[in-house]
Amino acid sequence: MKGEALYGGKAKTVYATSDPKRYIVKFRDDITAFDAVKKANLKGKGYYNAQISAKLFKVLADNGISTHFIKMVSEDEMLVHACDMIKIEVIPRNIAAGSITKKYPFKEGEKFENPIIVMDYKNDAAHDPMLNDDIAITLGLVTEKELRKIRKIALRVNEVLQEYFDERGLVLPDFKLEFGKIDKKIVVADEISCDTMRLWKKGTGQSLDKDVFRFDKGDLLAAYEEAARLIVPEIFK
Ligand code: C5P
Repeated sequence: MKGEALYGGKAKTVYATSDPKRYIVKFRDDITAFDAVKKANLKGKGYYNAQISAKLFKVLADNGISTHFIKMVSEDEMLVHACDMIKIEVIPRNIAAGSITKKYPFKEGEKFENPIIVMDYKNDAAHDPMLNDDIAITLGLVTEKELRKIRKIALRVNEVLQEYFDERGLVLPDFKLEFGKIDKKIVVADEISCDTMRLWKKGTGQSLDKDVFRFDKGDLLAAYEEAARLIVPEIFK
């Protein structure tokens, strides 16, 4: 079933399958931060991210949001629809944290009255610079209509995830989405995992996400396991 490796990212590898319209995404145990300056390999991380991502894609589908996810084919591999990836990282932000507090005078932990959507150009060599609509359109990354659609989907995903996490004692300060196109239809692609979200425990504000690795806040695997127990409890039965 799994064919040649087509693309290797920092934490996932995409494989061909016998069907050119379907790929397999493997979640690896590699973890990187700060433009891949900090790196590690933590056994079991790929499993938790794959399971959390699969669950959240299912939650989105249940709420009428299209994603590339089809099904899990092993503990850390998902079968997905092949998409033309849009080279934009879309980051909905509900609470100020991370880079936005370094670039602008927002205080860490400050809640935004309305979510802020930040879009970055997905380009490692250029260190993912922030986009505005004119730059994204002029670079040919998206059309104006696609940009409107992406913003609308991102806000809806943010609502659905915030509600899902709230019910489970978690807060979602921010997360990154990537989108792909299947023919002309825009779908949520890539992953939604502890590597790509900030996830805080309600009350204590304890990080259950990649900040544990970025800032040496403790045992990353324990944090991801705790997130998985809340988000996808069925895998522990
Ligand atoms: O680094 P920054 O604070 O801008 O990150 C905002 C959110 O987007 C965080 O949840 C982070 O994990 C995620 N992100 C990501 N991939 C990137 C940049 C940010 O998943 N390349």
